[in-house]
Amino acid sequence: PVVFVLNGPNLNLLGLREPAIYGAGTLADLEQQCRASAARLGLSADVRQSNHEGDLVDWIQEARTAAQGIVLNAGAFTHTSVAIHDALRAVGLPVIEVHLSNVHARESFRHHSFVSPVAAGVIVGLGTDGYDFALEALARRISRRDP
Ligand code: DQA
Repeated sequence: PVVFVLNGPNLNLLGLREPAIYGAGTLADLEQQCRASAARLGLSADVRQSNHEGDLVDWIQEARTAAQGIVLNAGAFTHTSVAIHDALRAVGLPVIEVHLSNVHARESFRHHSFVSPVAAGVIVGLGTDGYDFALEALARRISRRDP
C-alpha cells in the first residue's frame, strides 16, 4: 500500500530553522527516515513538501485514488487553511496529523487546527519520531481495513 507523507510550508528549512524547536535534522533526513519506516511496515511512502497551499490541496486530492492514507504536517496552514480541511474531508482517507513541536505548549495561534477535526489522530511534540508513529498507525488501520 502507498501512503502520502506531506509536509507544508517552511519544513524545507528543517535543520536551519529554529533547531531548538524543530531539531537539527534536515528535510532530506526526515524524508529518508519516512521511506525507511514505511518500508519496514510494508508500506511505500510517497514523500513531498511544498510551501504552497494549492500544492497540498492538489496532492490531497491526488491521494484519493493514489494512496490509502496520508501523514500530514501542514505547517502553519494547519492553523489557517479551510481549503486543506475541505480537501481532507472530500477524500475520506485516514489522515494522521503530525507536528514536530508541541503546538499546545507554544503561542495560542498554534492551538487551533483545521486539520484535527478531519484527522483520524494527531501526534504532536515528539519530533521526527512522530512520523514513525503516524506511519505505524496508518499501517495498522490499513491492515484492519478500518479508515
Ligand atoms: C509545525 C507547527 C506549526 O505551528 C508551524 O507553523 C510549523 C511547524 C510543527 O511541525 O511543529 O511550520 O507544524
